[in-house]
Amino acid sequence: MMHKNIVVVGASRGIGRELVLNLAQNPNHTVFAIARFSKGTSQYADMPNVHTFALDLAGSDVRSQITSMFSKIKNVDVLINNAGTLVNKPFLELTREDFQESYQVNIIGVMETVQAFVPKMIENGGHIVNISSVGGFQGSVKFAGLTAYSTSKAALVSFTELFAEEYKDTKIKTNCLCLGSVQTQMLEEAFPGLQAPLSAEKMAEYIADFSLNAHQWMHGTVIPVSLTTP
Ligand SMILES: NC(=O)c1ccc[n+]([C@@H]2O[C@H](COP(=O)([O-])OP(=O)(O)OC[C@H]3O[C@@H](n4cnc5c(N)ncnc54)[C@H](OP(=O)(O)O)[C@@H]3O)[C@@H](O)[C@H]2O)c1
Repeated sequence: MMHKNIVVVGASRGIGRELVLNLAQNPNHTVFAIARFSKGTSQYADMPNVHTFALDLAGSDVRSQITSMFSKIKNVDVLINNAGTLVNKPFLELTREDFQESYQVNIIGVMETVQAFVPKMIENGGHIVNISSVGGFQGSVKFAGLTAYSTSKAALVSFTELFAEEYKDTKIKTNCLCLGSVQTQMLEEAFPGLQAPLSAEKMAEYIADFSLNAHQWMHGTVIPVSLTTP
């Protein structure tokens, strides 16, 4: 099996952490784990094929920071934009900072990340997987309190389609997964007591397989991945 360089953004906990654990099981994979890692990067210290980079997607110069972090890496095969932040507040209580943080992490930081990785994918090809939410999927059920979050996730859906169009004649493929609820700290903090039908490990199993394979069949697609209806 071919060696693959795989980048997981939002890799310190939840679905992102399970993605790193899943993908790093294969010794042919080198996994680059990116997050703020406020509690330190030691969680992957005993995994030789995992490299950690601390980065704040809400900070300045995301593109240039990533470019310098990856200056020695020539090709990236898979980029999973999984980082996200969620604020759950009634619409009139949302502050400018809430909007800015949601948009910076969930869409602006993602676009800047993609800008940094395009040069690493353009020659040999690659798969960019954006992790959105069912709340950002047109026509899906919507949740009160999630205006800042879900509108930023809807922008991520739109970005996927726009990038796919602009890069359709290249070897870079991109797709977007709109997740339903998954039992993680994000969900527990936003909706205490809510029981999700999927664990982070189970969701990561699907995303890992999709990220490694789906680009052979699809480009620019937006797919809801949810056990709940509609
Ligand atoms: N759980 C669900 O029910 C659900 C449903 C739909 C969609 N999703 C989406 O799935 C993805 C993963 O969610 P999750 O539930 O696993 O969330 P989580 O447990 O809160 O994990 C989020 C990850 O994003 C990173 N992150 C947050 N802010 C960041 C920043 N400013 N810069 C860099 N990294 C940052 C966090 O790391 P640090 O804090 O160390 O930076 C963490 O690794 C998110 O995009 C989320 O919107 C989740």
